[in-house]
Amino acid sequence: MENKNNVIHDVVKSMEFYRELGFEYLPVKEEDISDYLSGTGMSIAQEEPVPLKGDKRGEGQSLESLQEEMAGCCRCKLSGERKNIVFGEGHPDARLMFIGEGPGREEDIQARPFVGDAGKLLTNLIVKLGLKREDVYIANIVKCRPPYNRNPEDDEISTCISFVKEQINLIKPEIIICLGRIAAHALLEVKIPISKLRGNFSSYDGIPVMPTFHPAYLLRNPKDKWLTWDDMQKVLGKLKK
Ligand code: URA
Repeated sequence: MENKNNVIHDVVKSMEFYRELGFEYLPVKEEDISDYLSGTGMSIAQEEPVPLKGDKRGEGQSLESLQEEMAGCCRCKLSGERKNIVFGEGHPDARLMFIGEGPGREEDIQARPFVGDAGKLLTNLIVKLGLKREDVYIANIVKCRPPYNRNPEDDEISTCISFVKEQINLIKPEIIICLGRIAAHALLEVKIPISKLRGNFSSYDGIPVMPTFHPAYLLRNPKDKWLTWDDMQKVLGKLKK
């Protein structure tokens, strides 16, 4: 009994430690701890992890509450020069989710993703797919404009990426389209050139991901537009099934 109490004490201490580190779930399978549970009459839920105190999902996390969580964000150095946080927009139950790299000048001013020149090209593409912007969800890997439109840096991406991952988790799109190298590398955790990645489905958390060229690249290289169009046909083909 003494020994069991010690074990329980240690488990509680470990859980408190992980919670302080920011963990919201401890992914434990019943089969892994069946020896410890045998004879105790205890079991653990398999379908839904039991939320620890402070677990947002347990409290009904939504896109709105996630956006509120970001309000006034100063978790990384991009907060210093941005005008607005560009959270993302679109249908909360979108079947298609587009993910870019980060806001540009116009997006920073309007607090909306893809509303500059590259955004106009993306909007045209969405319309050509037979959809409206409001039907899909559009977000970025980082939510604040990198100064002078430089690429987001690794520390900025790793600080912000949990937000886009939570957006994906809440929206549960059927297909994700990564626009450009930065988005594809950040989400898929690979370093393969976008010219090789594009056109083939990868997977994030069980969701098919189609990497394709960034619209800003296509503005500079219009001859490659047909490749992105080709990628979109694959997306449409999978979506219809
Ligand atoms: N480029 C991006 O990656 N995202 C935007 O929102 C605008 C331009």
